[in-house]
Amino acid sequence: MAREYLLITIFILLVAADSWSILAQRNDPIAWAKRVETGTEVITTLEFYFHDILSGQNPTAIRIAQAPQTDNSSTFFGMLTMIDDPLTIGPDPTSKVVGRARGMYGSAGKTDFGLIMVLNYGFTDGIYDGSSFSLLSINRAMESVREMSIVGGTGLFRLARGYAIAQTYKFDAMTGDAVVGYNVTIATYI
Ligand SMILES: *[C@@H]1O[C@H](CO)[C@@H](O)[C@H](O)[C@H]1NC(C)=O
Ligand SMILES: *[C@@H]1O[C@H](CO)[C@@H](O)[C@H](O)[C@H]1NC(C)=O
Repeated sequence: MAREYLLITIFILLVAADSWSILAQRNDPIAWAKRVETGTEVITTLEFYFHDILSGQNPTAIRIAQAPQTDNSSTFFGMLTMIDDPLTIGPDPTSKVVGRARGMYGSAGKTDFGLIMVLNYGFTDGIYDGSSFSLLSINRAMESVREMSIVGGTGLFRLARGYAIAQTYKFDAMTGDAVVGYNVTIATYI
């Protein structure tokens, strides 16, 4: 019995020594990489309106591709739209522009309507001038409120993680023009 305990103890000591050496190696400095611990999180909230204009002489959203089946599909499956939409502080399109949403959305739902949003929200106002965040999510645009994920950013939004709550403020079913309100929450580090 005593001999078995001794062997088990030696085994545990060997495992412990091995994990200790792995930990020690992790902290060894190397020339091309550095680790710094930090815990200072910043939460930013933003509120703005997104203007998606398909109609008229100067649309901000244009259909760039579609599949042969798209027009037969009740959800426009396969449609791809490129946008450069203004972001304003109020729902009125003439209110102050604070940035632009640029990129694409594509109809990615076969049975229910869902847009895959691949967009850069770039800001031009105040301290946020030059900062941007990237949004990548399905947008069930026919629902009155939906949530989308924010997966990164630049400038003040470096290392951003977050979410946007979007609510349709105005929608013209004839033209497809829409004004959408956004409440955005973003976590970054100082
Ligand atoms: C679209 O629907 C029409 C009418 O049902 C059909 O004749 C046509 O082949 C369909 N087109 C495609 C690309 O599925
Ligand atoms: C932000 O959320 C509040 C609370 O739900 C809502 O009243 C407001 O309309 C939202 N803002 C926008 C721009 O949608």
